[in-house]
Amino acid sequence: MSDIIISPSILSADFANLERDIRRVEEAGAQWLHIDVMDGHFVPNITIGVPVVESIRKITKLSLDVHLMIENPEKYIEPFANAGADILTFHYEASKDVNALIKLIKSYNIKAGMSIKPKTSADVVLPYLNDLDLVLIMTVEPGFGGQKFMNDCAKKIALIRKNAPKNLIIQVDGGINAETARICTALGANSLVAGNYIYKSEDIQSSVKALLQS
Ligand code: DX5
Ligand code: ZN
Repeated sequence: MSDIIISPSILSADFANLERDIRRVEEAGAQWLHIDVMDGHFVPNITIGVPVVESIRKITKLSLDVHLMIENPEKYIEPFANAGADILTFHYEASKDVNALIKLIKSYNIKAGMSIKPKTSADVVLPYLNDLDLVLIMTVEPGFGGQKFMNDCAKKIALIRKNAPKNLIIQVDGGINAETARICTALGANSLVAGNYIYKSEDIQSSVKALLQS
């Protein structure tokens, strides 16, 4: 069993056949499901909200890894937690009070994650490493699937891993494929989000397997 947690991003799935596409990654051995929530303000795109998470919760046992690319995340922690999220990741750039957000998420007995955009320095997460369950390092500008991996962002992984307690999950998101995955795991990442590499590939099984082995 791999120590790397694969979180396929359903943003690249076929929304008209979402259950089928979730089964495909379950069968391939993915452990989490990445759900990108975008509000058209924090990022220039609108995707899915609470009712979709509620419906997905009913059909899968995969951990629901919800990536909140939204302003005012504090308003939406309760609804997403009640909808069945297992991990809630907010953006540092959208937070007014990081400690309060972490506390709020943990009050629902779920994992608290914080993400940083490409231009945000890794230093900003250091004060919170003992309280967070997960740090998500964006390796593209958030907003859209299918963008090119930014190598410079991956360099942040090493600094965070060096300062992190041993249970911290370091996740990367954006432009992940078998090759870029290896760069990230070598630096200390242990959770990989992938949208296009998994869902736009000819063979979903082999793509997930390649990531599990990276
Ligand atoms: C982008 C999202 C990603 C996206 C990744 O803002 O956070 O999760 O789905 O897609 P790929 O893997 O295609 O870059
Ligand atoms: Zn994401």
